[in-house]
Amino acid sequence: MLKVKKLTKTFQSGDGRVTALNEVSFNIDEGRFVSVIGKSGSGKTTLLSILGTLEKPTSGTITVDNRELTGLTAKEMVAYRCKQIGFVFQGYNLVPNLTALENVMLPMEFAGVPAKQRIMRAKELLDQVGLVGDKIQRKPGRLSGGEQQRIAIARALANQPKFILADEPTGNLDSETGKKIFDLLHDLSKSQNTTVIVVTHDLSIAGKTDQTFKLEDGKLL
Ligand SMILES: Nc1ncnc2c1ncn2[C@@H]1O[C@H](COP(=O)(O)OP(=O)(O)O)[C@@H](O)[C@H]1O
Ligand SMILES: [Mg+2]
Repeated sequence: MLKVKKLTKTFQSGDGRVTALNEVSFNIDEGRFVSVIGKSGSGKTTLLSILGTLEKPTSGTITVDNRELTGLTAKEMVAYRCKQIGFVFQGYNLVPNLTALENVMLPMEFAGVPAKQRIMRAKELLDQVGLVGDKIQRKPGRLSGGEQQRIAIARALANQPKFILADEPTGNLDSETGKKIFDLLHDLSKSQNTTVIVVTHDLSIAGKTDQTFKLEDGKLL
């Protein structure tokens, strides 16, 4: 269970203070598939960044299975992020000089998984997301956007995270490919009991999730 309580984030910028998140509170049960919607600038990316421990909140708490994330040391935070969080971004964020297979193996290397196991699991994951044959030996530049996002999803799953945090994962894809990627995330969340939180502009997508959160000016409606 993920419990978020009165999460607030303010940024100090040139023209004053911006409240990106304003006392946001919610709970999400394990294995849920949740969408976050809201206009540009409403705080969606900030929320995902804080849930993923990439940024610290100004105030408020995040509790995962009764463990307070804001209370972790820097070292514990890195370990938590590596093992428990898988990120998927709009721009895929793959390493261009590594093959699809190597990209998926990378997080397992950081987590200390032995080499043989890394290869086996990366192949399994790529198979699960539908990337097969010689494509797994190609670098991202020689694959389509949809294929690159499949690799990113396989990579996000590498360390069997508790959460997948996806920021507009279909934003760069045509609507048909986007739908396939979305269905893939949905199937994976159900088959692996992974909690998926996906930011999207696409309301037809948001309508298919277990829960939808709407942000407006940093407030949860
Ligand atoms: N690092 C930052 N410094 C200053 N302002 C920021 C920063 N990150 C986000 N913001 C501001 O916080 C608000 C929410 O941004 P963001 O979370 O990126 O929204 P969204 O993802 O919904 O488009 C915006 O007003 C944005 O300009
Ligand atoms: Mg954003």
